[in-house]
Amino acid sequence: MEVVEKDKKQIRQAHCEQELKEFIDSVKDMEHGDSYLIAVLHKAQGLYGYLSREVMDTIAQQMQIPTAHIWGVATFYHYFNLTPPGKYVVSVCLGTACYVKGAPQILDAVRNELKIDLGGVTEDRLFSLQLARCLGACGIAPVVMIGDKIHGEMTPQKVVDVINQYRKADSAHSTGLASSPRATKK
Ligand code: FES
Repeated sequence: MEVVEKDKKQIRQAHCEQELKEFIDSVKDMEHGDSYLIAVLHKAQGLYGYLSREVMDTIAQQMQIPTAHIWGVATFYHYFNLTPPGKYVVSVCLGTACYVKGAPQILDAVRNELKIDLGGVTEDRLFSLQLARCLGACGIAPVVMIGDKIHGEMTPQKVVDVINQYRKADSAHSTGLASSPRATKK
């Protein structure tokens, strides 16, 4: 069983490497190819979930840019994660519809509850926190996405309740009593 998981991981890894390489090949021959660095970093983060030192080295080699430059760009923009994300990525939408309906207060509530800031990961590695710009669910703003589930019409109290549901579900899962929180108002 463990071997199957390991194989799957290796296949996934090889697939990510290939996809990133093809993406870089498609942009590096363009005029001013190095100006596509941000697009490449986005692609890498989408594939791996974060930008590890190894991934930055690979990009540096393929794009023939110093790793230090890539590091500088990746640390300048808060939407790039340099550490592995938590099991559940909490994305608080700060798009216009959500913003006017109280998203900043939702963000504060999440920060206080998880005791992390943007780009951070909780000590138990269960949650990480990031911002989103419109999750396409403005009708139920303000919206928070946790993992791949949208939770709408959030209030500071409701978002804390939802986070606690994830905690409970996760500890039930680890004790064999699995039940995953349902998306709300989707
Ligand atoms: S602005 Fe938040 S979902 Fe559209």
